[in-house]
Amino acid sequence: MKKIIIAIDGYSSTGKSTVAKQLARALGYVYVDTGAMYRAVTLFAMRNQFIGEDFFQKEKLIESLADVQLNFHFNAEKGFAEMYLNGENVEQEIRTMEVSNFVSQVATIPEVRKKQVQQQHELGKEKGIVMDGRDIGTVVFPNAELKLFMTASAQTRAQRRFEELQQKGENVTFDEVLQNVKSRDQIDTSRKDSPLIKAKDAVVIDNSEMSLDEQFEKILSLAKNSI
Ligand code: C5P
Repeated sequence: MKKIIIAIDGYSSTGKSTVAKQLARALGYVYVDTGAMYRAVTLFAMRNQFIGEDFFQKEKLIESLADVQLNFHFNAEKGFAEMYLNGENVEQEIRTMEVSNFVSQVATIPEVRKKQVQQQHELGKEKGIVMDGRDIGTVVFPNAELKLFMTASAQTRAQRRFEELQQKGENVTFDEVLQNVKSRDQIDTSRKDSPLIKAKDAVVIDNSEMSLDEQFEKILSLAKNSI
């Protein structure tokens, strides 16, 4: 069967990764979470004191980018690939609120983006891939055979993310999560390099009122029609 590239973009916490993982499993495709890559670079910047509450030493981060090696390793038990930063599994650490609070600033840096996009091209060159992020259908794979743009109200997204973080035992309030979701959307849509916008040929999925099953069925049928 023909292999295609499926690009899934959209706002923060729209459930892109959940549906992308499900879809990749159903089609026997590779799933690539590009947000994990920007999160891992952010963790690297935090550990090296390049970014914090009231400082951001962009130049130092740019100079150190050669020291950032990112890899995905498939975890058969979990059924998806986990993110490794310089050989260390950072899958848990990159999902904290602290990383979420800094990641969109790091993702504005063109040098950071260029490096991630090169690796994303490499990961997608054999096709048979579901990749999610903010610029996949517009910049990374503008010729992707299927493009989806996911959206939902900020309240709905923050509520889902809040519940997820609570389950992981993170001590956060709903308002903190809502602020983070809104602030990331604002930075992601207004940055100069590769802003979050819907590709002209993307199918919009507003999942505010959709169950996970409904969403998955819709997306699977779109994918089957594109293959
Ligand atoms: O997808 P996730 O919410 O984990 O992504 C974290 C952040 O990484 C986003 O808010 C965005 O700032 C950045 N990102 C990006 N381009 C991508 C994927 C993520 O700028 N392709």
